[in-house]
Amino acid sequence: MKLIRVENYEEMSSSAARLVEQQILDNSRSVLGLATGSTPLGLYEQLIRGVQERNISYKQVQTISLDEYCGLSAAHPNSYRYFMNEHLFQHIDIQLDNTHIPDGTASPVEDECRRYEALIDRIGPPHLQILGLGTNGHIGFNEPGTPEASVTHCVKLEESTRKSNARFFSDLNSVPTHAITMGIQSILKSEQILVLASGKKKAPAVKRFLAGGVSEDFPVSFLWKHPHVTLIVDKEAYSLAAAEKE
Ligand code: F6R
Repeated sequence: MKLIRVENYEEMSSSAARLVEQQILDNSRSVLGLATGSTPLGLYEQLIRGVQERNISYKQVQTISLDEYCGLSAAHPNSYRYFMNEHLFQHIDIQLDNTHIPDGTASPVEDECRRYEALIDRIGPPHLQILGLGTNGHIGFNEPGTPEASVTHCVKLEESTRKSNARFFSDLNSVPTHAITMGIQSILKSEQILVLASGKKKAPAVKRFLAGGVSEDFPVSFLWKHPHVTLIVDKEAYSLAAAEKE
């Protein structure tokens, strides 16, 4: 695994943007795997600037998002489709038909999970998959205990994840209880994986990840099985791992 240490959130975002843009410059038909949440917001801002200021084009790019809440339609302001449209897609020259996100309202949900995994195999897997890191080590919505062989599936969200995401909702009760997520296996299919972590809250998870060892109760640790992973951490997120080394 390649570790890139940077000073702060802004540097993490621009360093990640450089890697994404290089991928697009190398292959204008790239497939990007995308995450939502607070972590990639700065990266997405940089990518938007790349279109405006550096002539980067997403006309032929396809995206595959990691996850979506069950029960929220694309029009719901807290759905991940809405988030991606708001924070990235509507500001770049991507064709919306080329942006893929699980449909949280599809029924039965098992059929939607099968459709999505088949789509990953058909148009993907991503050349570059971007991941945020959950404080409990989750990636996508793969909570501790998710098996390595998992493909796209429906999960019951852990209370810690619901509480952590409640900041985007009016109250905890409004946070959905289930989500559709790409599985560990689906994520490991990607050619390259880029994990981003910023801030003190992520420091314990970064420390445990960097300590090595693969364990089902710490999903991000499965990335040790992948040959091309880059982790970009800022000073705060790296602080506990750094303290360990001293
Ligand atoms: C989002 C996702 C989650 C987040 C993780 C970190 O699509 O899959 O795994 O990446 O919960 O969230 P933030 O970035 O809000 O700290």
